Amino acid sequence: MLKYSKIKNFIYMAYVCTNCGVEYPKWQGKCDSCQEWNVLAQFTPVAKSAMPQNLANNGRPAHLSRPKKLEEIEVTTNARLLSGDAELNRVLGGGIVPGSLVLLGGEPGIGKSTLLLQVALQLKQVKVLYASGEETESQIKIRASRITLFSPNCFLLQENSLTQILKHTGDLQSVILIIDSIQTLYCEEDEGAVGSMTQIRSCTTRLLFYAKRYGVTVFLIGHINKEGVLAGPKFLEHMVDTVLQFEGDKQCLYRMVRTIKNRFGTTSELGIYEMKATGLHAVTNPSAMLLANHHHVLSGIAIGACIEGTRPLMIEIQSLVTKTRYGNPQRNATGYDPKRLTMLLAVLEKRARLCVNDCDVFLNITGGFRSDDTALDLAVCMAIVSSLKDKVITHSKCFIAEVGLGGELRSVQRTEHRIAEAAKLGFKEVFIANQNQQSLTSLNIKIRPSAKIYSVPTRG
Ligand code: TYD
Ligand code: MG
Repeated sequence: MLKYSKIKNFIYMAYVCTNCGVEYPKWQGKCDSCQEWNVLAQFTPVAKSAMPQNLANNGRPAHLSRPKKLEEIEVTTNARLLSGDAELNRVLGGGIVPGSLVLLGGEPGIGKSTLLLQVALQLKQVKVLYASGEETESQIKIRASRITLFSPNCFLLQENSLTQILKHTGDLQSVILIIDSIQTLYCEEDEGAVGSMTQIRSCTTRLLFYAKRYGVTVFLIGHINKEGVLAGPKFLEHMVDTVLQFEGDKQCLYRMVRTIKNRFGTTSELGIYEMKATGLHAVTNPSAMLLANHHHVLSGIAIGACIEGTRPLMIEIQSLVTKTRYGNPQRNATGYDPKRLTMLLAVLEKRARLCVNDCDVFLNITGGFRSDDTALDLAVCMAIVSSLKDKVITHSKCFIAEVGLGGELRSVQRTEHRIAEAAKLGFKEVFIANQNQQSLTSLNIKIRPSAKIYSVPTRG
């Protein structure tokens, strides 16, 4: 039998689900926890003895930790650091939290490196170390000169070794550490190739301990895979404090940063940027931007209002309904949930007695925008009806309501904020659910309440 002291430092091989992080002693085809197939990968856990001193216990020596009563605990409200980028401050929940670990994911070429380099150069008052394993220092300098920003406190480092990066962070006493990207990082003490799950997991663990122990905020750039989710194990998202996702069409000038998870603020917050020759610029009036190309002369276009985080946004919904020539009718949605589109088409067919079952339906939210807000249901239905009947909806109308399975219009949250935004942008008429009517204050816009989808006029 092995003695306990020998077992303690014994490094064993395990298999870990790359989707949910559950460990198994031997390989199997399916993960019992998340029911996904072919997601198990070999993994060598970090031996405790290999951890940097004092970092194995969340930054505290083991003998100092003890259970405390609630009243004993002092709340330290660390002042947030304002990043000089109002949109980033918004998605982080009001600024950078010292000692937090933030993960920024997104497709290649969407602007992750540009955004974080901008942040590093805008934060002139504190030392920032930008460590890149992807680009050379001169490449980063060329990008910095493109975005025409300069900071005497921004340091660049071309390095893949985490040990070296942490050593330089300590030597420089930098307050912010930016890692571009977590997939190019490696730690000599762990096995596995650069970008392997073992390396990603152990580097993130070490960075987490480092951030908590020394109060350094760490921004990690993460790649996303072809399915559109963050590459690497799901537990990467569980470990970090905040997950930000860069979204938008690369063909489009507009880019959005969405909060997926935030331990220090609300989720679903959205920051909107425009990619220009001089870097990413915050968009101050996003509704006006999203409606900029609204020509009002085509059928199949309706305007709806969604809420993203704390802000109401007016968005344009386009639809094209054509008779199916061959095969099964197609349903294609860009920026909108395809299942919800199918449900709304069934409601239109059954409750409003419109023949959409033998039609191909294409739906698009313009500007590369994506929303799951059910308040857009009515606008989606109206865009489809407008295209089906080839009748233009006049430019002064907008639609704010959820549509139920019975074809009834349902009230949505914060209708008054959405209507105020519509009034601000010059809309003259807004169609809402009957139940929402009482809560409305007088605004310079005509309110048209309806109970059922088929009582909303489709002409004009
Ligand atoms: P990048 O930030 O390198 O994307 P990521 O790190 O997510 O892979 O670059 C984004 C794209 O933006 C790149 O194709 C070039 C373009 N770009 C501009 O249009 N203007 C600029 O000022 C900069 C720096 C980049
Ligand atoms: Mg990059």
